Amino acid sequence: MTSEIPKPKLSLPLRTRVALFFSSAVTNFSRRSDGTVNRGFKKLLDYKSRPKTKSVKGVSTKDVTVDANRDLWFRVFTPTASSGDGVVPVVIFFHGGGFAFYSPDSYGYDPVCQRFCRQINAIVVSVNYRRPPEYRFPSQYDDGEDVLKFLDENPAVLPKKADFSKCFLAGDSAGGNLAHQVAVRVAKSGLRKVRVVGFVP
Ligand SMILES: *[C@@H]1O[C@H](CO)[C@@H](O)[C@H](O)[C@H]1NC(C)=O
Repeated sequence: MTSEIPKPKLSLPLRTRVALFFSSAVTNFSRRSDGTVNRGFKKLLDYKSRPKTKSVKGVSTKDVTVDANRDLWFRVFTPTASSGDGVVPVVIFFHGGGFAFYSPDSYGYDPVCQRFCRQINAIVVSVNYRRPPEYRFPSQYDDGEDVLKFLDENPAVLPKKADFSKCFLAGDSAGGNLAHQVAVRVAKSGLRKVRVVGFVP
């Protein structure tokens, strides 16, 4: 017996479809058949956005280094429009890209985090974790966990209005997996200041 299940009509905006097509094509072309990634080629087409310390459309950004030896850093997105003395939650975000691609300053991910920051009125911390195949599992999870420990020990790197009692771990695609694994790890490691209260895959 067969039954007709109506297919949902999904239509992404044209701009999104074009962007997805290009990002998929560039990602495909920079993958070598032996499983390595042609970083040089990828870099040519992965346009980087610089941090903007002056508020643009209600968001200011800055980069914070955790460990220069392994290029571990994060970009902080701060909502500037909210009233001065109110506190806002902190969202620690892990970008996607099959673990192997992109970074917080990638053309695609910087505006995504700006939008999260503005629309949910939260401080967003977007993590630059090491990527495979150069850096193998579980270095990505180590990096995620180390960023949370770093925030726990150095809360002053975030603006005063950061409410550390309301931290969320979030991520898309590979970043969703990463956020989950980091949540499991920090649940055991006993952070003092950073309280993870939610997970948004
Ligand atoms: C990239 O590769 C995937 C998997 O092989 C394929 O499904 C997709 O159509 C490719 N994208 C482009 C734009 O060529």
